Amino acid sequence: MASSMTPLSHAFASVLFVVIGLVALRGAPLRAAAADTLSVDQPLSLSHGPLVSKRGKFALGFFQPDNSGHWYIGIWYNKISKQTPVWVANRDSPVSSPESSRLAISSDGNMVLVADNNSRSAIWSTNVTNIGSGQTVGVILDTGNLVLADASNTSVMLWQSFDHLGDTWLPGGKLGRGKLTGGSTRLVAWKSYSDPAPGLFSIVLDPNGTSQYLVMWNSTRQYWTSGNWTGSSFTGVPEMTSADAYPTSMYPFDYVDGADGSYFTYTITDDSVLTRFQVDVMGQIKVMTWVESAGEWMPFWSQPKAQCDVYSLCGPFSVWADNSLPSCRCLRGFRERRPQAWLEGDHTAGCSRDTALQQCGGAQKGKKDGFYAMPDVKLPSDGEGVLAAGNADECGLACLGNCSCTAYSYNGSCWLWYGGFINLQDMSSIGAGGGTILIRLAASEFSTTGSKKKLIIGVAAAAAVVAAVTVIVLVSVFVLRSTRVKALRRVEAGSLTAFTYRDVQSLTKRFSEKLGGGGFGSVFKGSLPDATATPVAVKKLESVRQGEKQFRAEVSTIGTIQHVNLIRLLGFCSEGTRRLLVYEHMPNGSLDKHLFWSGSSHGVVVLGWEARYQIALGIARGLDYLHEKCRDCIIHCDIKPENILLDKALVAKVADFGLTKLMGRDFSRVLTTMRGTVGYLAPEWLTGTAITTKADVYSYGMMLFEIVSGRRNARRRQDSSAVDFFRPLAARMLAEGELEGLVDIRLGSDDVDLAEVERVCKVACWCIQDDESARPSMASVVQVLEGLVEVSLQPVPRSLEVLITNQTNNNVEFFSGLSPE
Ligand SMILES: *[C@@H]1O[C@H](CO)[C@@H](O)[C@H](O)[C@H]1NC(C)=O
Ligand SMILES: *[C@@H]1O[C@H](CO)[C@@H](O)[C@H](O)[C@H]1NC(C)=O
Ligand SMILES: *[C@@H]1O[C@H](CO)[C@@H](O)[C@H](O)[C@H]1NC(C)=O
Ligand SMILES: *[C@@H]1O[C@H](CO)[C@@H](O)[C@H](O)[C@H]1NC(C)=O
Ligand SMILES: *[C@@H]1O[C@H](CO)[C@@H](O)[C@H](O)[C@H]1NC(C)=O
Ligand SMILES: *[C@@H]1O[C@H](CO)[C@@H](O)[C@H](O)[C@H]1NC(C)=O
Ligand SMILES: *[C@@H]1O[C@H](CO)[C@@H](O)[C@H](O)[C@H]1NC(C)=O
Ligand SMILES: *[C@@H]1O[C@H](CO)[C@@H](O)[C@H](O)[C@H]1NC(C)=O
Repeated sequence: MASSMTPLSHAFASVLFVVIGLVALRGAPLRAAAADTLSVDQPLSLSHGPLVSKRGKFALGFFQPDNSGHWYIGIWYNKISKQTPVWVANRDSPVSSPESSRLAISSDGNMVLVADNNSRSAIWSTNVTNIGSGQTVGVILDTGNLVLADASNTSVMLWQSFDHLGDTWLPGGKLGRGKLTGGSTRLVAWKSYSDPAPGLFSIVLDPNGTSQYLVMWNSTRQYWTSGNWTGSSFTGVPEMTSADAYPTSMYPFDYVDGADGSYFTYTITDDSVLTRFQVDVMGQIKVMTWVESAGEWMPFWSQPKAQCDVYSLCGPFSVWADNSLPSCRCLRGFRERRPQAWLEGDHTAGCSRDTALQQCGGAQKGKKDGFYAMPDVKLPSDGEGVLAAGNADECGLACLGNCSCTAYSYNGSCWLWYGGFINLQDMSSIGAGGGTILIRLAASEFSTTGSKKKLIIGVAAAAAVVAAVTVIVLVSVFVLRSTRVKALRRVEAGSLTAFTYRDVQSLTKRFSEKLGGGGFGSVFKGSLPDATATPVAVKKLESVRQGEKQFRAEVSTIGTIQHVNLIRLLGFCSEGTRRLLVYEHMPNGSLDKHLFWSGSSHGVVVLGWEARYQIALGIARGLDYLHEKCRDCIIHCDIKPENILLDKALVAKVADFGLTKLMGRDFSRVLTTMRGTVGYLAPEWLTGTAITTKADVYSYGMMLFEIVSGRRNARRRQDSSAVDFFRPLAARMLAEGELEGLVDIRLGSDDVDLAEVERVCKVACWCIQDDESARPSMASVVQVLEGLVEVSLQPVPRSLEVLITNQTNNNVEFFSGLSPE
């Protein structure tokens, strides 16, 4: 919103600034007393606003969402750079002329929004009946709660916005249902990024009376459930029980099943942390924390985990593809039903046909409709099986025989879809098989493309002749220069090779051998067309937002970084929206495979102690080089065993450095990729202080425990949701000096040098200190591991100490900020 601030709101902001400045100068609480209060003689208007809560955390006033011509009364965070509304009064009845609109106390004591000076009818009202005769005021509290209260005693609350939630649930708010009224509060997502009107996605406490939360589409179809409350967590959210290890800033959670109602609430123990829970436009529920250094909200928990599992996210007749932006696309022969909403992120209306089906009463009635095949898809929901059709042809005929049939698929049995089918997913980018769906289109859709095709073939033939001539000329030139180089165009950029997309396709054999899927995109094996067919790893970056020029600049910076413990970048490709990086290939793969080997993978060896020690030292040297020795200091931001590769001689090479910068300031993406391995994340990622090289030091420390133990600190269970924390064990062992129990049981005790183990564990504990200034630099780590410097046992980090002594935080006050004193 800050990005689209109107001149008006600029003026507005500067007025506010001046007012605050004046108050500060005079030191007199002259207007400050009223700055959070709306009263009969002080209504809120565009020129007299916004109101700011006592300690300045929240503001209430008129605002305009991004790309919206409409105005709303809303509450937003007052102190952060990205305007983030947490509540909107007139969600579905915006005002268009804010200059003449006011939020005021009406004659009957309610808080009302009126559109112009003379109008008596309210656009929005608190709607409280029987207020009594006393005067009332509206107060915006530091919890983000707007209350209507008795003017003579603001503890007497008549109405509060926390009982009328929007899409956001703030700490201290209650999400549940009233036993007496039977009503339930629900969070309902915005319709689109620029329209706060209630959309289709919501979360609600089960209206049937169980203790589970349901995430719903159109209030009818449930697509995620939390499971029942067990007393400490929900059965579907077991990671909540490990929330005492992480994140420390966001507990306790509490489920209250009392006489007045059942509800769930959470509080924040550290008031400086801004956290919110939201149902977003795309139908996921998310817990997000503000990270000041990044200027972004970072999600650290969301459900359903995969965006594509949101029910009917793309609407009818469209397809979800992970690798495109936007991820919803209309099928061939269809177009967006509501193009403007589509652009604003609301895809739920889906797509409609360009041409009506002819066979069933279209213009050329009687002409048979056709089908086109879409391979590699996850089939849509709610197909109907047809037993009578025994093969694909019969299945197609069955579909043609019913005018409401729109698609079929034959996978051994026949499946038909009627009307606008939903939840179709394109799996081709993931390389996973899936099925093939045949989609019904009017016959004319095929004949027009037929004639186009002929034309295209003609053009293609001409082009081919030209291309052939060109190739012959080029090839002769190349042959003259070098007999070894195939028809591969190379442009030198520093020491890097710039490849064309076709080059990359040919050197990876059309991306046929996938090595893995990293945080920023999939990695494929390839080989250079040189004498030795040097093996390479090609990383296909996903959704890079940077322009060509900036991308090249960043890439050439990464290209200049050369160190024996860092993966070398050999080249890149930047063509249209495609961005690929070509790296040297590491035959021994990534460290995680070796550490967490379960006995089933090929070519994986259990690393001996000496190898592990050398790997730990190598990584430290590589990171030290990134942090201190390059021209621009590079913070890796994603240190974990998956990003450590091993060469033939098991020398450790840090991979993926510089990518955070390359991918732009999209920290939420970084966090998303790290979410599964949240155990490596330094606490400052969540508290909002600046991220420094010490964040890498922390992750390195966490990884050292894994190198010693051969076990994951944070383990994902099969449903990929649960996290087991190993840290408490490690910390206890450190505290009690029992190192042997820590060491990987697959290592023979003769192999292991316990003095080295102790040294590594001390370093690890030093690296994961809560206070980043208490952590060592990577240079110091190198010195300790090289045996040049001794290190004393560091204090056990506070967050771990809590676990060891099994202390619980008993003196937490719920709703402490709710009532204005
Ligand atoms: C409403 O009042 C404001 C100030 O009192 C004035 O500037 C504005 O023109 C009025 N609007 C209408 C529609 O009367
Ligand atoms: C207030 O009550 C009126 C009439 O009952 C209703 O139309 C309106 O939607 C209510 N407004 C709010 C904000 O609940
Ligand atoms: C204000 O109301 C609260 C709650 O009803 C009551 O406990 C308190 O004594 C009242 N304060 C004053 C000053 O009347
Ligand atoms: C709630 O109860 C209704 C009627 O008994 C039932 O149709 C519905 O499936 C139930 N919902 C859930 C989530 O159990
Ligand atoms: C949502 O449900 C209502 C009634 O339950 C229905 O009329 C409406 O068409 C549904 N919306 C969509 C987009 O299907
Ligand atoms: C939650 O508990 C209710 C009964 O209290 C039970 O019917 C329901 O199946 C449970 N839900 C889940 C997801 O276990
Ligand atoms: C087409 O299929 C639908 C869904 O199975 C069915 O309700 C309808 O009666 C069928 N129409 C014809 C003409 O067979
Ligand atoms: C065929 O597709 C249907 C509908 O998606 C699915 O339920 C079924 O499991 C599939 N059968 C096979 C053999 O893949």
